[in-house]
Amino acid sequence: MGDRKTFYITTPIYYPSDNLHIGHAYTTVAADCLARFKRMQGYDVFFLTGSDEHGQKIERTARDKGMDPLTYVDKIVAGFEVLWDTLMITNNDFIRTTEKRHEKVVQEIFQKVYAKGDIYKSEYEGWYCTPCEAFWTERQLVDGKCPDCDRPVELMKEESYFFAMSKYADRLLKHIEEHPEFIQPESRRNEMINFIKSGLEDLCVSRTTFQWGIPIPFAPGHVIYVWFDALVNYLTAIGYGQDEEKFNKYWPADVHLVGKDIVRFHTVIWPTILMAADLPLPKQVFGHGWLMLEGGKMSKSKGNVVDPMILVDRYGVDAIRYYLLKELTYGMDGYYSEEMLVNRINSDLANDLGNLISRTIGMVDRYCGGTIPAAGASQSLDRELIELASQTYQDAGRYLEHLDFSAALGSIWKLISRANKYIDESAPWLLARDDSRRERLGSVLYNLAETIRITTILCAPFMPTLPGRVNRQIPLFADPEKLDWNQAGTWGLLQPGCQVTKGASLFPRIDPKVLEEGGDEPTAQPETAAPAGKESISIEDFARMELRVAEVVAAEKMKKADKLLVLKVRLGDEERTIVAGIAKHYAPEDLVGKKIVVVANLQPAKLRGVESQGMLLAASNEDTVSILTIDRDLPSGCRIK
Ligand code: MSP
Repeated sequence: MGDRKTFYITTPIYYPSDNLHIGHAYTTVAADCLARFKRMQGYDVFFLTGSDEHGQKIERTARDKGMDPLTYVDKIVAGFEVLWDTLMITNNDFIRTTEKRHEKVVQEIFQKVYAKGDIYKSEYEGWYCTPCEAFWTERQLVDGKCPDCDRPVELMKEESYFFAMSKYADRLLKHIEEHPEFIQPESRRNEMINFIKSGLEDLCVSRTTFQWGIPIPFAPGHVIYVWFDALVNYLTAIGYGQDEEKFNKYWPADVHLVGKDIVRFHTVIWPTILMAADLPLPKQVFGHGWLMLEGGKMSKSKGNVVDPMILVDRYGVDAIRYYLLKELTYGMDGYYSEEMLVNRINSDLANDLGNLISRTIGMVDRYCGGTIPAAGASQSLDRELIELASQTYQDAGRYLEHLDFSAALGSIWKLISRANKYIDESAPWLLARDDSRRERLGSVLYNLAETIRITTILCAPFMPTLPGRVNRQIPLFADPEKLDWNQAGTWGLLQPGCQVTKGASLFPRIDPKVLEEGGDEPTAQPETAAPAGKESISIEDFARMELRVAEVVAAEKMKKADKLLVLKVRLGDEERTIVAGIAKHYAPEDLVGKKIVVVANLQPAKLRGVESQGMLLAASNEDTVSILTIDRDLPSGCRIK
C-alpha cells in the first residue's frame, strides 16, 4: 500500500468571525466531492479544512462582545465542525491557526525567509481594509474605498517587516506560463497574469497595531500578517518540520480549492513565499465562482445569509449537496433561491432519479416476485443504453478531474433520463402480460437495475447517503460506504437473483407550498405523480405522458365497490382493463362504444384486486363528472398530443 498514489486537497480555512453560510458550504462540499471521488479511485487522499483565527477583525469582534478572542472563536469553530459533520464532510484533519503546532511552523518559515534575506525591516504607510485583512496602495483604492469590498479603509503607518515579493515576480510569471494547469479556470489564470504583469510590490508581513496573531520571534511587539500565517496552514497539517515522511508524501498539494476572491492570495503571495522558503509549489489553485442571492452578495451586514444547517434539516444532506454542485457551473457564479432548490429536488431528484429507482423496484416486485432477473439476448435499444452508461462513466470522471461538478452531474442525468425513456419504450407492463416475452422482460428489468448500480456509484461522491439508501431497497453493494469508481465502468457486474425490498421513495417530492409558508416542514408526497398547482412542466415532461384514444368495448360495476367501474377498452389491436371511479356518474351501458381518452403509460395499479392498466381522463367539479371523448371519429389507439 506504501506506493499508492496520493492526493492532497485543501479548502480555504474559514474566518470564525461568524457562523458559516451556504456560500462557504459550497467550497467545502465541492472539495469533499473531489476527495471522495479520488478515494473511490484508490488514491491515498489527504483532505484538509480548518479555521483562520487570527487578525484584527476577530480581535475586534470578540472585544465588542466582551470576550477574549480565543473564547469567542472556540465557540464559532465548534459550530464549523458540527456543520461539516452534518454535510458529511470527510476531512482528514481540521487545522486551527491558534494551535501550537501551527504557530511553530509559521515562525519557522518566517525565520527561514528572514534568514535568507527576503524579509527586511522598513516603514509602512498604507490603506488597510480590516474586513478583508488587506493593505492597499493609494492607487489601488476605488473612490477611496477597498477595491474588493467597497468598504472604508484606514491609513496605517508603522515600522514593519516586508517580504521581498517583487523579487519573485519574473519567476512566478514564468511558472504560470509554463504550467497552464497551475491556475484554473483559464479566466482566472489570465486575470492573475495581468495582475502580476502590472507590477508586484513587496508585501508588508508584520503588524504592531494589534496583538491577536503569531509573534515574530525576533521582534517583540510584532505579529505576523494574518495571510502569511493562514497560508502556511497547508504545510503545518501535513507535518512540516515535524513528520518529514508525511510531509514528503503529500506535498506539493494537488489542489487548493478557493473562491475567486482569494485566488490572488493563493497564486501570488503563497507561491512566492514557497519560493523564498525553497519549497515546491502546489500543483493547482482552482478558483470557483460565488453563490449569489438575487440582491447581490450574501453578507451578515445585509442580513441575507442562508444557513446551511436549516436547509439540510429541511431537505436532507444529499439534496443540498446535489443542489450546490449542480447550480454553480464551471468557475462561474450561481444564484441561490429556495424556490430553485425545491424545483431541482422535485425535477431532478424526485422525478428523474427517484422515479427510475422506484419504478424499477416496483416492476421487479410486481412482475418477478422481487427477484432481479437475468438478462437474455440484448437488442439495439439495450445496446444504446449500455453504450451510454459506459460513455457516462468516462464523461463524469473526466469532468470531475477538471472540477466541473455541474457538468459531471449533467452527464449522469443524461443516463438517468435515457433509462426512464427506456422504460417507456420497452413497456415492461405489456411484456409482463405475455408469457412468451418473459426473457425480454428479464433483460429490460436487469438492464434497469444495472443502470441504477452504475448511476449510484457515479452519484456517490455528490450524495453520500444515496448508496446506503439504495442498497436497502436493492442490495447492489457489499459495502455501500466503500464503493469503487471503476466498477461503474463495467457493465454486467450486478448478479441476478438478488431480492429487492420496496421502500419509501428516496427523494419525496416537496410541496412548493412550503415556500409560501416560509419553509415549514416539507410535505412529503410519496407518489411522484403529476406536479402540483401552478408549477410549470416542460414539453419534454408532457411528452413522457402517453395519451391515447381508447374504445370502450365492455363495462361492468365492480362487486362490493359502489364507486368503481371495470372497463375493457381497445387501443388499436391491444385490449386493456381500466378501473375508473365513475360508477356514481355513468351507468356501464352508457359507456360501451364510446371513444375515450386514456393515459396509456401509467404504471398499472391494483384496485380491489383488479389490475388497472391505464387511467381514463375526466373533468369534474363537486357534483358532475364528464369523461373526455373525441369529437370526430378516429380509430382507437391514436396518440393524443
Ligand atoms: N480566511 C480566508 C482564507 C484563508 S485560506 C489560507 C477567507 N476566509 S472566508 O471565511 O472569508 O472565506 C472562505 C471561503 O469561502 C473563500 O474561498 C470564499 O470565496 C468562500 N465564500 C465566501 N462566500 C461565498 C459565496 N457566497 N459563494 C461561494 N463561496 C464563498 O477568505
